Amino acid sequence: MESGKQLTGTLALAVFTAALGSLQYGYSLGVINAPQKVIENYYGRTLGVWSERAVVLSENSTEEEEYPEAGRHPAVIMYWSLSVAIFSIGGMLSSFLVGFVGDLRGRVKGMLMVNVLAVAAGLLMGLCKMWKPHIMVISGRAVMGFYCGLTSGLVPMYIGEIAPKAYRGALGTLHQLAIVTGILVSQVLGLDFILGNDAMWPLMLGLSGAPAVLQSLLLPLCPESPRYLYIVQGKEQEARKSLLHLKGEYDPTPDLEEMRREKEEADKEPRVSIISLIRSSVYRQQLVVALMMHLSQQFSGINAIFYYSTAIFTRAGVGQPVYATIGVGVINTIFTMVSVALVDKAGRRTLTLVGLGGMCCCAVGMTVGLKLQGDYPWMSYVSMSAIFLFVSFFEIGPGPIPWFIVAELFSQGPRPAAIALAGCCNWTSNFIIGMTFPYIQTWLDSYVFILFAGLLFGFTVFIYLRVPETKGKSFEEIAAVFQKGRKKLEQGTKDATELQELKTSTDA
Ligand code: GLC
Repeated sequence: MESGKQLTGTLALAVFTAALGSLQYGYSLGVINAPQKVIENYYGRTLGVWSERAVVLSENSTEEEEYPEAGRHPAVIMYWSLSVAIFSIGGMLSSFLVGFVGDLRGRVKGMLMVNVLAVAAGLLMGLCKMWKPHIMVISGRAVMGFYCGLTSGLVPMYIGEIAPKAYRGALGTLHQLAIVTGILVSQVLGLDFILGNDAMWPLMLGLSGAPAVLQSLLLPLCPESPRYLYIVQGKEQEARKSLLHLKGEYDPTPDLEEMRREKEEADKEPRVSIISLIRSSVYRQQLVVALMMHLSQQFSGINAIFYYSTAIFTRAGVGQPVYATIGVGVINTIFTMVSVALVDKAGRRTLTLVGLGGMCCCAVGMTVGLKLQGDYPWMSYVSMSAIFLFVSFFEIGPGPIPWFIVAELFSQGPRPAAIALAGCCNWTSNFIIGMTFPYIQTWLDSYVFILFAGLLFGFTVFIYLRVPETKGKSFEEIAAVFQKGRKKLEQGTKDATELQELKTSTDA
């Protein structure tokens, strides 16, 4: 049983400050959707390939070609696709560096350092009209992606390490709550009468750097992770101070004792790098679980909804697709709050299973709705409800849990490397879905969500069979669960080998 007040003002401030990084990530994920047409037109005009008259001469053609929309011009398509996709490429690359940055000067200083990137990216995009806008936006998005790849690992790492055991799930889920809030804010600001218009869109993109400024002012007030101080740096006194800061007046001896044992374990092994983590059989089970949790988050198809919701709603016969998209953002935020309230009571495993199972049923519902919509007009309501429910089930578990469970599954030694690998897996699969969904949709047409239903079913079975509950357990206890599993497995293999040897010798 942990003592101390546990939820102190300092802890709240530290979690809030860290989550500003997640807010920025969510905002950057969502910001590029709504103003697509406005930005494409601007690109078209500055590139000199499109004008409002809508009739231009293509570079390689002698005939007059019509581009009623700038977005159909090959040059604009290329620059626009790059503006969108380069964000994920930045994230994929930098997520590998999370462990390095987190261990270099600590979690707090790490978050502080990388804010330089966010501010630079914000300025590049905000001031893009001053020079070639397409180049400025693409550079800004690349730097912002690089920043977000780092922050999407550093934030859960820091929160996971400072949170008291009993609230680790709820506080960990705040990372996702901040992401979805960021997405929602970007959807609302993207309305054409707010910032999603020709005059204001650079400001809208530039604002993605704003939370970094606030975070930089608050980070110096946040205590460094006691686990980092003690286990990585061996500074017991500083760790004690940080614990008292975070938890109020209490006896930190049991917490320090737990860290001492973890440090002993960590000291026995060489530093766990990403390569050694992949190779090591000791962490194999945890790693498979961590990566599968992230794969299930992305291959559930959630971002197909987020990136293409307007198109999907239009297909499903919804009248005001932009507002339906904002509706998705609102539902998304509300159900993440539900998850914050439930996750430390119901547990990670149960919520992930309910979430993935529910999403699987909704994907079937969407398919039925899309397929039969021509025959029965009311089917568009079925599709729309299925989309809303799909998002709600996602946020109950499969959305927030993968982000913080990786920090729970690994002890201090391999934690940074594991978070880096899981983050890279998340960013890469996100990128794959973003790039391929339009093609898959053309290929499978109304049956597109059946593909996700199949994947969701597979993930549900995997989680049921292989993922243990981590709620309320210390990092040591969680490691012990996997050790037991590994011993059983090893024993099984040994038994099988011995049996085989016995068989061979009797046969002989
Ligand atoms: C999770 C996913 C992200 C997705 C978001 C939607 O944070 O990692 O890709 O866009 O949830 O809420």
